Amino acid sequence: MGLLKAVGFRGLTVALLFFNLLVGLTVGIGVNWGTQLTHPLPPATVVKMLKDNGIQKVKLFDADSSILNALSKSGIQVMVGIPNEMLYALANSVKAAENWVSKNVSSHVSNGVDIRYAAVGNEPLLSTYNGTFLPTIFPALQNVQSALIKAGVSNQVKVTIPINADVYDSSGSDMPSNGDFRPDTKDLMVEIVKFLSDNGAAFTVNIYPFISLYNDANFPADYAFFNGYSSSINDNGKIYNNVFDANHDTLVWALQKNGFGNLSIIVGEIGWPTDGDRNANLQYAQRFNQGFMSHIKNNAGTPMRPGPVDAYLFSLIDEDAKSIQPGNFERHWGLFYVDGTPKYQLSLGTTSSNGLVAASGVQYLDKKWCVLSPSANLDDPQVALSVSYACANADCTSLGYGTSCGNLDIRGNISYAFNSYYQINNQLDTACKFPNLSVITTSDPSSGDCKFRIMIRSSSSSALNAGAGSVEKPSCLILFVLVSVFFFTIQ
Ligand SMILES: *[C@@H]1O[C@H](CO)[C@@H](O)[C@H](O)[C@H]1NC(C)=O
Ligand SMILES: *[C@@H]1O[C@H](CO)[C@@H](O)[C@H](O)[C@H]1NC(C)=O
Ligand SMILES: *[C@@H]1O[C@H](CO)[C@@H](O)[C@H](O)[C@H]1NC(C)=O
Ligand SMILES: *[C@@H]1O[C@H](CO)[C@@H](O)[C@H](O)[C@H]1NC(C)=O
Ligand SMILES: *[C@@H]1O[C@H](CO)[C@@H](O)[C@H](O)[C@H]1NC(C)=O
Repeated sequence: MGLLKAVGFRGLTVALLFFNLLVGLTVGIGVNWGTQLTHPLPPATVVKMLKDNGIQKVKLFDADSSILNALSKSGIQVMVGIPNEMLYALANSVKAAENWVSKNVSSHVSNGVDIRYAAVGNEPLLSTYNGTFLPTIFPALQNVQSALIKAGVSNQVKVTIPINADVYDSSGSDMPSNGDFRPDTKDLMVEIVKFLSDNGAAFTVNIYPFISLYNDANFPADYAFFNGYSSSINDNGKIYNNVFDANHDTLVWALQKNGFGNLSIIVGEIGWPTDGDRNANLQYAQRFNQGFMSHIKNNAGTPMRPGPVDAYLFSLIDEDAKSIQPGNFERHWGLFYVDGTPKYQLSLGTTSSNGLVAASGVQYLDKKWCVLSPSANLDDPQVALSVSYACANADCTSLGYGTSCGNLDIRGNISYAFNSYYQINNQLDTACKFPNLSVITTSDPSSGDCKFRIMIRSSSSSALNAGAGSVEKPSCLILFVLVSVFFFTIQ
């Protein structure tokens, strides 16, 4: 409930402190609910899973009406999102912003959806966007805020922008007290921060210790977690044992230096992936997420901001259709697998149980797998083409060094790729017709941590047409392979 601490409410400090205390004790933890899956669970199933796990807040990346309908009267607080691609239209048209608010906020609020925030864009300042959204982010924020006011919902629904943590730094030092906005983003950030402050809103930041470790082989692993760090940082008497606190407080200092030291902070995304990289595994993810939950419980906060931390774990469920441009780990951030089963023990402190509760009533496809035929010849030139086709259209991010299936031999690798393609295509016979190479089996090829998964039955039966998955029709498979053979031959 960060927004209650906002500067604009100063007159009500005592009442709000009391309210904050009450809410702080009950609001608990939030999760990000992403939807880039080939086979999403039905929204009602996910909402039940959220409730069964005592999760009281969700952050969405858009405003999918089937999801918002399922959240109606659930008691779960919602942050709806505006994709970056919409910023241009919203920045250039007040009417577009009004339409967005009317369709994607007001109508749902009237329908009993407890929307608290509208997230304008998602990490729009990320350097990989090359500044594409710089001109539109602030005008879009202003237009959405005006539209919320005009629609009469601005007291309940606040604007924010989920921002990547690299908009601020500590000028090459380890000391949070050196924190400030990066010179190239500073003017814009100060404008945004002032606007958020003026409107009783909060600053949303995504903090990723995993990425620190991923990007820098010399990053001290212990500093990424919450179990103590031998070279703790003493910043004028404030002691830092983990990079989350240090990063968060670098932002606090940046806000303070620019005159907004009281602006509420929401941790929009925080988490650890379980596969697709040597540092992404079940043990590390459990250690990080449980460590984070213990760290923020009892409202200890950070050295610069004692008190409740308002955070959304990233993420609820794996997303097998996400772009892997950032890395193969990108599809493995979930606390739950695609089928809604928990990956590891995690106490969120919200239920009496010590673990996570699985989704209920999930339907699976038959217990069968598509694998490399024992008689297949590995010298067949179609092997490589078939594998790259399968991996391009399905999910092979559990293969490779340090991953859950990283110990498979070459035949196991090929089988994994074939099976992934077959499952994502709903076990259609035509999706296991890699020429002379594949065969369907009813004996589970899984071994140890390396799982050959059976796909769930999707409510939207046709994963083939799901835009997010960009899975092509398997009937094109043979043609593709033949054409590719031809193409590679003439090169
Ligand atoms: C409402 O949100 C959805 C999902 O983000 C989007 O596709 C649609 O364009 C929005 N509607 C309006 C009127 O802006
Ligand atoms: C950003 O610039 C790089 C290098 O010029 C280019 O490769 C990349 O495609 C650009 N990305 C976007 C989103 O424009
Ligand atoms: C920040 O909050 C504190 C405590 O409520 C208050 O004393 C102080 O004046 C505020 N600072 C600003 C800059 O508003
Ligand atoms: C299996 O596939 C992965 C990912 O493509 C690759 O890194 C690994 O070397 C392969 N293993 C074998 C034994 O071919
Ligand atoms: C399958 O193998 C047989 C015999 O080895 C061969 O004649 C045939 O052309 C192969 N089919 C394809 C589609 O590669």
